[in-house]
Amino acid sequence: MSSILITGGAGFIGSHLAEQLVKAGHNVVVMDNLFLGTEDNLKAIRESIVFYKHGYEDKAFLLGIVKKHRIEYIYHLAGYSSAPMFDGKEAHGMMMNVVGFIGLLDVCRDMNVKRLMYASSSSIYGDAKFQVEDAKVKPPNFYALSKYAMEHAARLYFDLYKVQSIGYRFFSVYGRNEVHKKQFANLISQFLWAIEAGKDVVIYGDGTQSRDFIYVLDLCNALILGMKAGECYARAGVYNVGTSETFNLNDMIDVLEEMTGKKALRKYVANPIKNYVTVTKADTAKAKRDLGFVPQFSLKQGISHLVSARKIIHS
Ligand SMILES: NC(=O)c1ccc[n+]([C@@H]2O[C@H](COP(=O)([O-])OP(=O)(O)OC[C@H]3O[C@@H](n4cnc5c(N)ncnc54)[C@H](O)[C@@H]3O)[C@@H](O)[C@H]2O)c1
Repeated sequence: MSSILITGGAGFIGSHLAEQLVKAGHNVVVMDNLFLGTEDNLKAIRESIVFYKHGYEDKAFLLGIVKKHRIEYIYHLAGYSSAPMFDGKEAHGMMMNVVGFIGLLDVCRDMNVKRLMYASSSSIYGDAKFQVEDAKVKPPNFYALSKYAMEHAARLYFDLYKVQSIGYRFFSVYGRNEVHKKQFANLISQFLWAIEAGKDVVIYGDGTQSRDFIYVLDLCNALILGMKAGECYARAGVYNVGTSETFNLNDMIDVLEEMTGKKALRKYVANPIKNYVTVTKADTAKAKRDLGFVPQFSLKQGISHLVSARKIIHS
């Protein structure tokens, strides 16, 4: 049993991870300023965790928490979690994601935290043809740039101070507990909500753009494997976390229709987004080789799981 801190633990991915870690018997501390997430996401485990409503960028506070709870591992999921959040707030977004992260790395070093696992993003790749970890990348927006800078800060902290870390380039993650993200939620969730409500499913362009969708429980498994991996895999390396399969939006909507038994009202509109990515597809060989990560949920299985979970919540 370990003592684990999750920053951003009231968010979509963080709340799932907290559930999985509690289930595995760990002591879990969650720190989230509720900028976007909600304590409701932690309802099922609220009695089993310690929760702090606080910004992770407050280094003195963070240090106090790590000391008080003798934190051994940190999962860092807090921050601006998607590209549009940076619109008009580029400098603040970089402060939150990058400067805050450097403070967190300081705390890991000063408190001898065993290992840090943190969220990077596949958005770093932009429209790169080969989405493999050692590809030369050109981050297409400030969100991606913040993740790229985080990866390099982690590398420096390993090189200079031997702070162990693993960065994860999450691909398109979907699952329950995404309602708080509203327009920033994964397209699977947004389209599912529209289908359930009988509203238009708005698709940019012709719907042939494709994404590597990964179910949130698979992602949590990849994160947990990172904590257990040998030291040689925690030297500030980065790992793709996807399925290595890609589905276009039209096919994804077909699966939603099949799993809900409802027809989607598809509405195709001109794409208003600059630097829009047309294909994401993870090369997952490195995560498989080093972490032993193999996703278990196909798109159909993941969506079916999500649809059932929502039925239970609403019944
Ligand atoms: N969901 C995806 O598909 C996806 C893909 C790639 C990367 N990521 C990354 O994964 C991480 C988690 O994403 P998510 O989808 O769960 O998003 P989310 O917005 O639901 O979770 C982020 C959480 O961090 C909290 N937060 C924000 N700023 C904070 C701060 N300064 N201090 C403490 N808490 C703060 C928010 O309140 C929220 O609960 C993010 O770093 C995101 O960039 C997500």
